[in-house]
Amino acid sequence: MRVPTVAQADVAGARAGDCAASKWWRSLNGSWKLRLFDTPESVPSTATNAVLNTDAWQTVAVPGNWTLQDTGDLPHYTNVQMPFAGPPPRLPEHNPTGVYRRTVQVPATWSRNRRVVLHVGGAESVHAVYINGSFAGYGTDSRLASEYDVTDLVVPGENMVAIVVVRYSAQSYVEDQDQWWMAGLHREVFIESRAATHLANLRCDADLRVADGVGQLTVTSSISFGDTPERGWAVRTTLETLGGKRVGKPVVSAVPHGFYRAYIFEGYRATAAFEVADVAPWSAEHPNRYRVIVELLGPDQSVREVHAQLIGFRHVEVSNRQLLVNGQPVWIFGVNRHDHHPTRGKAVTYDDMRADLVLMKQHNVNSVRTSHYPNDPRLLELCDELGLYVVDEANIESHAYNTSLCHDDRYRATWLARGSRMVERDVNHPSIIMWSLGNESGYGANHDALAGWIRHHDSSRLLHYEGASFHAGWGDGGRLATDVVCPMYAPIDAIVMYGRDNLGDRPLILCEYSHAMGNSNGSLADYWNAITTTPGLQGGFLWEWKDHGLTQTLPDGTKRFAYGGLFGDTPNDSNFVADGLISADMVPHPAMREVAWVYRPVTVTAGKRKNVIVVSNRQSFSDLSGLRAMWSLHVDGELVQQGELAIGPCGPHSSVTVPLPCALPDGNHDIALSVRWLQRRASASLGAGHMVSWDQVVLRQARRARAPKPSRRSASPLTPVERLFTQPISLNLWRAPVDNDGFKLTIDLSKQVRGLGPALGSWMLAGVHTRPPEELVQHSVERVVGADQSVTYHHTVQVPADLADLPRVGVMFQLPSSFSEVRWYGCGPHENYPDRKSSAMREVWQQPIDSSPYLVPQEFGLRTDCGWFECIDKRSRVVRVESVGDSLVHFSATRHTPAQLFEARHDSELVRNSDLVVCVDTAHRGLGTASCGPDVLAQYRLTPGTYRFSYKLSMFSPT
Ligand code: GAL
Ligand code: MG
Repeated sequence: MRVPTVAQADVAGARAGDCAASKWWRSLNGSWKLRLFDTPESVPSTATNAVLNTDAWQTVAVPGNWTLQDTGDLPHYTNVQMPFAGPPPRLPEHNPTGVYRRTVQVPATWSRNRRVVLHVGGAESVHAVYINGSFAGYGTDSRLASEYDVTDLVVPGENMVAIVVVRYSAQSYVEDQDQWWMAGLHREVFIESRAATHLANLRCDADLRVADGVGQLTVTSSISFGDTPERGWAVRTTLETLGGKRVGKPVVSAVPHGFYRAYIFEGYRATAAFEVADVAPWSAEHPNRYRVIVELLGPDQSVREVHAQLIGFRHVEVSNRQLLVNGQPVWIFGVNRHDHHPTRGKAVTYDDMRADLVLMKQHNVNSVRTSHYPNDPRLLELCDELGLYVVDEANIESHAYNTSLCHDDRYRATWLARGSRMVERDVNHPSIIMWSLGNESGYGANHDALAGWIRHHDSSRLLHYEGASFHAGWGDGGRLATDVVCPMYAPIDAIVMYGRDNLGDRPLILCEYSHAMGNSNGSLADYWNAITTTPGLQGGFLWEWKDHGLTQTLPDGTKRFAYGGLFGDTPNDSNFVADGLISADMVPHPAMREVAWVYRPVTVTAGKRKNVIVVSNRQSFSDLSGLRAMWSLHVDGELVQQGELAIGPCGPHSSVTVPLPCALPDGNHDIALSVRWLQRRASASLGAGHMVSWDQVVLRQARRARAPKPSRRSASPLTPVERLFTQPISLNLWRAPVDNDGFKLTIDLSKQVRGLGPALGSWMLAGVHTRPPEELVQHSVERVVGADQSVTYHHTVQVPADLADLPRVGVMFQLPSSFSEVRWYGCGPHENYPDRKSSAMREVWQQPIDSSPYLVPQEFGLRTDCGWFECIDKRSRVVRVESVGDSLVHFSATRHTPAQLFEARHDSELVRNSDLVVCVDTAHRGLGTASCGPDVLAQYRLTPGTYRFSYKLSMFSPT
């Protein structure tokens, strides 16, 4: 395996890096002919013949998945289980096999003493290549390129390329990742002409000497001579800035041409070393890059070909239980990313990848784990450019045979090949700070073999493998295979114990946490409270970036995003594939605001002294001069004063105390200071003015009077506001379960997944979803009508001990369809829940009502801790609900009842009421992450006992 590099004729061409501009390179992307057969055995030999009439074959796009291109063979989703019966290496009887064909023109100039190479970027699962009817070779790793020297098979002029792709193979057992099974040529295909003597590989080892800031670079050019090494060849290596300014002097090194000195000869390699004083180092915060230019010089000194490689100087190490980049600890604000596009599947484009990464940067994500396989090489270029730390993961997951294949000699070579080829391909990228040995594949000798190879080949990065610490222990286990303790879905208590009690000397970085399935990510801020205050903990990678919904056209022509089973795929794991922070078409779910907040680079907290606040810079290399801090003072949620906050210099990892920017009004009020940090100058991913960080500091809380004891039971007639209700006020204990409460679509799936939340099961047993709430709890209500025609409700609800952990305690009513906006004083503006509200600010907000953001309908749209809220209709009638007494209320206002949300299995089935469904809660269960991980923490659950809550309803038209 080599790094992806294409020969150019001159330095300008190499700088531009446009393959298509090279006369020695031809893309084979585009339309191919495809025909599917039932099995590999049923492919007739004529299908790969040089000559064949393929008019009747289908035309498909390459790169692409045929499973998304109307071939009749559809995607299949499974998580742990294999889509067919084992044991390895047994294959299914029906094993769709596609023959791709197209022609390629090979210029006559290519055949003059040159090599011709066909590059297949990635094919799921395995593939074989035929040129003009002759077999050229086969490849068995779906996520890395295979290259074939086809010199002897091509002729000048028209040639026929046939690639046979088999959907399932023995390799599928080590590609058992939790994702859609697809098929086809999903990465680029090209053909290239290489000179007889050419640059075969180009390795750049760039390091930062932290003590004195010197950049150290060794460039190793490997030359291929074909059959006969020749004297007189040399390599000229130049280092330059991105702007093309030379750094240091070019180095000319001779290429050795003999290997008779057995103990000295290392290969036809020329090296060049550079030391750069005051180098601009690479980090995710400052992704400074340089360019290496390598010119291959023939014996006559003429330039034969030129290659360019962008590099970055940076140093990675572990010291004192911390991962350091360039000598500084960095927070790992990470996400797991799969290649996914709703219509292209695994065939993601450069623009798709860039859009993903830019959106990540806009939410303060600074690290990506390429779960669970090497991505298209351009993703790494983008991470280098935009500034994201990367855990590059090998395409190895034997989940269904978790603890056996890692010891299986039949798969030993596979382990080594997959991991080593990834490292060889990606070794030049500064963004990669750790190599991951794969995912969920037990821990065996195969892992240690791969780890040994990587450590020898590249000692500049750390190794990462979750299975090693899972199976061998966090304390001292699996050291050969992992330099970090990288558990998945560990509860907060467990990681805190590891750090606080000094249970190991490796940094703990969660490789997966906070499962974002549906309405989720409860306690994300609790995780980060623990991480930032406990030594040895450094962050983690959220699971996961994007829902894997696939566009599906229904018989009536409407489109929707499909999850497992909706293509008729069995067995399947249903909507477990929709567990992203953003939808398949890139709309961030509300939890994304909480992510951006916990990952924010600067925090503001209350000072220990009165009248000061503390600004803390969580960045490792930047001060705060790139951000503008705007403050606003809110009295009972209303904005009363604002300005720009003056802050003294505040370097990385440091704090400054800042006096309050204004005087505080007297009186019994809620008083809060909000601070919003705006990007001053546009960067590659953030626009000028983009809100990077925000915080709210509560400066005073109003004392709230207890609710008056209702003096008399009032039988007065309905007030105007009550007459407006299309459904009267009723007690409400039910919420449409979120995925974390239990899997409504596949109750069986619940059994397979760790840490199942028992909530939904127990609610259904008790009949919370069907029985009138008054049968479950004792409820009394007093209704008091005021002189102004307002009406106050006082509720008392007794929750018995056997009904602990209810979804909610509150009421529900409905308003006419014309009500379409809400205004409130409480947590907002985005949806928030008791255990996911740290990113919300308590201010006065106003917006149109939310529509359901989740692929599988479930509870959504709550706003917590409200002093009051108002529903507003098109005629400007306002219905106001005010909390009375010492507790605040939570509310939601949507077009769906909990029952309707629960009933719908897919967003496309969701019934939309014309009326507005308003829920008012005194208590609401947190969200937790029990779909895969810890359930709602005790402090966010409902306890049995007495709930008393009161609110006042009124109606008015603003003048
Ligand atoms: C992990 C696994 C991921 C995904 C996740 C649940 O166990 O590594 O691939 O399955 O759980 O969504
Ligand atoms: Mg798995």
